[in-house]
Formats: sequence, C-alpha cells, structure tokens
Amino acid sequence: MAKSSFLSSTRAIPERSGVPRHLAIIMDGNGRWARKRFLPRVAGHSRGVETVRNTIKLCIERGIPYLTLFAFSSENWRRPPDEVSFLMQLFVRSLQKEVERMHENGIRFRVIGDLSRFDATLTDMIREAEALTANNTALELTIAANYGGRWDILQATNRLLASGEFDGEVTEAALTPYLSMAYAPEPDLFVRTGGETRISNFLLWQLAYTELYFTDTLWPDFDEKAFDAALTSFGGRERRYGRTSEQLTSPTPDPDRQSGNA
Ligand code: IPE
Ligand code: IPE
Ligand code: MG
Repeated sequence: MAKSSFLSSTRAIPERSGVPRHLAIIMDGNGRWARKRFLPRVAGHSRGVETVRNTIKLCIERGIPYLTLFAFSSENWRRPPDEVSFLMQLFVRSLQKEVERMHENGIRFRVIGDLSRFDATLTDMIREAEALTANNTALELTIAANYGGRWDILQATNRLLASGEFDGEVTEAALTPYLSMAYAPEPDLFVRTGGETRISNFLLWQLAYTELYFTDTLWPDFDEKAFDAALTSFGGRERRYGRTSEQLTSPTPDPDRQSGNA
C-alpha cells in the first residue's frame, strides 16, 4: 500500500475506494441480546465471539485489509466485577482457541489499549500472538482492549514529549506516529451495533473524517446481511474532506499536497 494512504485526513485527502480500507466497529448489544432470551448478560458476550469470527471472514472476503474491534473500553471496568472477570476469561479462552487459526489464515493480530491493568497471563498471550502473526498480511486485525480515545491522545503526547524529538510545538505530523494505530490508515467506516449513537471514547482522533454508521442490530445478530448493509451505506457516501461536491466531479489538485504539507 502506498505510503500516502497513511496521511492524516485533515492534512491530505486520502485515496478513495468503494470498499473501506479500514473498518472500525463498536460491538455493542451483547447484554440486551441475552436479556431478550432470558439468558445472563455474559451469554451474549460468548455469542458475540462468533460474530467476531464471522466478521473477520467477511472482511477477508470483501477485501477490507484493516479491521479494528472495540472489545473493552477503559470505562468498562465500572461493570459488575463478575462480568469484568468473565470478559477477561473469555478473552484468554478466545486467544487460546483462535490464535493458531488466525495465523493459518494469514491474519496479523494486534491489541491496542493500556495493557498495564491486565493479568500477566493475558498480556503474555497477547504479546506471543502479536509476535507469531507479525508477518501476516491477509488482514490486519486490531482489538481495542482497555482502550480509550483520550488515553490514546494523552499517551501519544507524553511519548512525544519524552522522545527527545520534541521541538517546542506539538503538531499533527509530530504526534500521529505516537498514536496507537499509527500503523494503519484512519478508519474509512465506523460501525456501531446495538442502537446507541455515540462514540463511547473509541478512536477519537482517528475518526475525524470517518463515515459513521449506526444500526439497531445487536452485535450477536450482526450477520452477513447486516455487514453488507453497512458496506452499501458506505458505498453511497460522498466523502468531501472539506471540499465542495462540484470539486469532486471536476477534481482540482489537493492544495495540502501541492504546498508540500502532505
Ligand atoms: C458490548 O455489549 C460488549 C462490551 C462492552 C464488552 P454490552 O455488554 O455493552 O451490551 P449491552 O449494551 O448491555 O446490550
Ligand atoms: C462501548 O460499549 C464499548 C465496547 C463495545 C467495548 P458500552 O456498552 O460500554 O458503551 P456505553 O456505556 O453504552 O456508552
Ligand atoms: Mg453496551
């Protein structure tokens, strides 16, 4: 992929395509899915793992190279302790079960977020899975765990300030390499299942020009049809990045790129 694909969307206009290069999803609605069936909330989380597996498969089939899934927010520690510990165990079990298969399918696996609050067992498994899959290219899968958009911006700022490269001014160009998703283009499409229309402290910086898609479908019900409906909605959007509609039909060069800012 061309290096220019990874430029910040507020500094240069990204290359366009009908299919998102990067899909970022807030997987919400597991608890309600379970409650509707008179099951404990955690049964919804278990079912949600199946949707994760199916969504990964669909991304590979549709040619989407980057998939980022919000699995646990920095605010989810506020949930009942039993639910938090179930989610941690589910994470461990899913890694044990899926890492080999992901590797065989050429998936590169990464976790973003503040891992310092996790058990050593879990962080070791994450690091091992990241190392094992580091050369895979079929799909770049990122799991956001104990992730918060504000945490990300602050950790990036602090690392920049401590880097020795800081020259007195925090700029976009200086900061973005320190953000936890610096290896990926900014998301083209954001999907939130479960009916809520908020960002809940997900990728705040990176979503600046992302197309947002909200659906009432609960995460365990987010099947191929629901997935394709999101892609169809994305395909019909006009991404202007600040320009007028007319400029898109008779393209003029991007002034940012011309002035060498890109
Ligand atoms: C999303 O489903 C999963 C996590 C936040 C871990 P929820 O558990 O938030 O489900 P609802 O929103 O209560 O239905
Ligand atoms: C957002 O869902 C976080 C994840 C899906 C991991 P929540 O269910 O925690 O969000 P709020 O609390 O409704 O905003
Ligand atoms: Mg929720």
